[in-house]
Amino acid sequence: MKRIGIMTTGGDCSGLNTVLERVVSGATQRGWEVIGIRDGTDGLYSRPVMSVKLTPETLPIELARLSGSYLCNGRDGVMNFESAAACGKLDEFKQTLRAGLRSLELDTLIIVGGNGSLSLAWNNHDIYADVNLVCIPKTIDMDVPLTDNTVGFDTAVQQLVEFGDQILLTARSHHRWFVIQAMGRDVGSLALHAGVALGVDAILIPEIKFDMDTLVERVKNHWRDYGIIMVSEGVSVRGHSGQPADIISRALKAAGITNRALFPEHIQRAGDTVATDRILAASMADCALRAIENKETYVMTAMQDGACKTVALSEFFANGSILCDPHISGQQVSNAYVSPDDPLLTVAANMGTYIGETK
Ligand code: F6P
Repeated sequence: MKRIGIMTTGGDCSGLNTVLERVVSGATQRGWEVIGIRDGTDGLYSRPVMSVKLTPETLPIELARLSGSYLCNGRDGVMNFESAAACGKLDEFKQTLRAGLRSLELDTLIIVGGNGSLSLAWNNHDIYADVNLVCIPKTIDMDVPLTDNTVGFDTAVQQLVEFGDQILLTARSHHRWFVIQAMGRDVGSLALHAGVALGVDAILIPEIKFDMDTLVERVKNHWRDYGIIMVSEGVSVRGHSGQPADIISRALKAAGITNRALFPEHIQRAGDTVATDRILAASMADCALRAIENKETYVMTAMQDGACKTVALSEFFANGSILCDPHISGQQVSNAYVSPDDPLLTVAANMGTYIGETK
């Protein structure tokens, strides 16, 4: 009988509970035991390790659609990679995590994490020396290389679209523009997908520079006196600091255009998991369990051209843009961005949406 561990790390998103429930179902079919580690690395660092045995009774099917993580993702202000590095205790932190894993006597650990967690796993092999490691990518940012989708993204798009749908009605009533700031860190996928779904009038993403005067002129001369500008939180505006939605809102106001800046924030990480995300979560859970059967280690599940397969974590790392981790000195992170060839950019531009200065 195998004994597998699972933890949810980094920011939460919808779809985590579907992954957990599907892993438990598939493992139970095989007669395996599943141990959930609570609160991400905080649970693994704590003594005793914060863990719970997961069964179809503790994690019933009706919880699978809910956002958040049944295991939790951790709290602010505890010892983590970032704080351990900041106080020069990274080695001690890593050794404690390794000992925590050893104490659980696991065959395999499944990390359900974003590109930060996966990069940390790749950079710190020593922590996982006593287990096989299988990763499942989740994030609303879609910044994980080598996979066409990540758990949580589709629900975040849906959440943002529903938010925009509501706003458009009040926008019309008051002849106002709204500048909606999407999450996504330094990647524009969420803003792009939600913006196309909504049919907004401008989509501004960090990957494409935009011209403020052109944006203002387009809004001023628009045949409608209301609409939505979708801006990704990672957009920077030359000569300004602060939130991009606020900066754009001020520029529109200065040109006499009535508008408001809006920040849907963590609503994008909430909401019942949409069907496509549940299918993705189930496919990735199944792929992870098959990887465990095949004794694979240091792999990530990836959706590529409609099929879910495992790719080596080394490949995940080598195929991204490698950056210095902004939060942890000495660590690197592998990032994926919106490609200039993304067909959705063309779709948006062809429909009259301003997507910035692409030429
Ligand atoms: O990475 C997911 C994400 O939601 C980003 O889109 C956002 O910038 C960040 O996390 C917010 O983090 P926190 O919840 O710590 O404020």
